[in-house]
Amino acid sequence: MEVVIVDSPEQIGVLGAQAVADTVTAKPDAILGLATGSSPLAIYDELGRRVAAGELTLKDCTGFNLDEYVGLPDDHPQRYRNVIEDEFVTKTDIDTANVHGPDGSAADIPAACAAYERAITDAGGVDIQILGIGSDGHIAFNEPGSSLASRTRLKTLTHQTRVDNARFFDDDVDAVPVHCITQGVATIMEARHIVLVAAGRHKAQAVHELVEGPISAMWPATILQMHPNVTVIVDEPAASRL
Ligand code: GLP
Repeated sequence: MEVVIVDSPEQIGVLGAQAVADTVTAKPDAILGLATGSSPLAIYDELGRRVAAGELTLKDCTGFNLDEYVGLPDDHPQRYRNVIEDEFVTKTDIDTANVHGPDGSAADIPAACAAYERAITDAGGVDIQILGIGSDGHIAFNEPGSSLASRTRLKTLTHQTRVDNARFFDDDVDAVPVHCITQGVATIMEARHIVLVAAGRHKAQAVHELVEGPISAMWPATILQMHPNVTVIVDEPAASRL
């Protein structure tokens, strides 16, 4: 695990985007793993800047989103498919038809989860996964206690995550869905390169556990210590407990 401590969230964006650009330069039809949350936004902004400047193209890339709320209407702005569309797809030249996410409205959720796993495998697996981390150490929506061998499945969000994410729902925690579909911990671990980004003091304990803690399902991100190719990019406040 390589840990890079930077001065600002903007620098997280520059280094994260550079990692994506390196992957795409080596493999123009790379499979990108996409994350929601505020942490990766600087990466998407920088990728958008590079595409607009003609320095990079993602036109042959495919994207797979990490997770999705269950039960939000198709046009809800916080549906992760829509968030990725607004924050990443529209800023770059990736083809929206090539960006996929778990189907949070599926009638048969277990079948949709299995189909999503197959789609990732059939595409050849994720080349570079952008990842955030929850203040409780979750990755995607694999909450504390998630099996470290888990695959894409239905999960119940913890109260803490719903409180953390209420800011995207007019600060109304009751408006945050209770359920989600998330790639499993083992699904995420199959990505060939993982770039985890975090900013802010509220992430300091999670980053401490991620880098220095014992591997435990109670801090799901700690399994990344077993991955051969992880880059952790954090600002000083997030690194303050290292
Ligand atoms: C949500 C997402 C995670 C993300 C986390 C942290 O729970 N499902 O993928 O890592 O939020 O988000 P932020 O970067 O906004 O702190």
